Amino acid sequence: MIKTGVLVSGSGSNLQAIIDAIEAKRLDASISVVISSNPKAFALERAKKHGIPTEVILKDSFPSREDYDREVVRILKSYGVELVVLAGFMRLISKVMLEAFPMRILNIHPSLLPSFPGLEVQKKAIEHGVKFSGCTVHFVDEGLDSGPIIIQAVVPVLDDDTAESLSKRILAEEHRIYSQAIQLISEGRLEVRGRRVTVKNNKVETGAMENPKAAIFD
Ligand code: GAR
Repeated sequence: MIKTGVLVSGSGSNLQAIIDAIEAKRLDASISVVISSNPKAFALERAKKHGIPTEVILKDSFPSREDYDREVVRILKSYGVELVVLAGFMRLISKVMLEAFPMRILNIHPSLLPSFPGLEVQKKAIEHGVKFSGCTVHFVDEGLDSGPIIIQAVVPVLDDDTAESLSKRILAEEHRIYSQAIQLISEGRLEVRGRRVTVKNNKVETGAMENPKAAIFD
């Protein structure tokens, strides 16, 4: 069973989905500690409710991003964490953390990367007029939402979507695929070659999706 540490800044719905997957025995992992950059994050309440230790690390207490990350690493190591899971953690990760956990930091992002990295991405996807969006679980590297992709889920963008309605549709998929990615790592089933991450014994469906449906021409 892999020991994770989950880093949060906000609501923590992804944290909750991971907790639920562990409790339902769909995910063979444990959460040793939840670390928040925000003392008011609802994620902290979620962790406490499930008896998971929490720590708050405030950005203003540290002169640099590296110093901040050194403290995060110290706490993660003190809990014996093997895999770092960023779940709505709104800070860039420095070399300090990357070197302490090489290819052992995951992030989830609410777009089909490499499209729409950064913030307010659901709004940007709608404004751009894409017909599909989704979410991506990836390994973290030094860039912004740029590391090797582990798993993606696709959702359609509807004509009357708002950033809120699209976010909700994407979030439901985030809650599904984050635990799946952690489970793949826990089972040692991922192979990473450069940017390409493959899954041993993967079952592939090759059917295409379209939006709008070709049926509109019938
Ligand atoms: C999620 O949609 C996650 O993908 C996004 O923040 C939200 C956190 O929600 N993360 C990023 O945009 C990182 N680039 P949650 O706190 O309810 O899990």
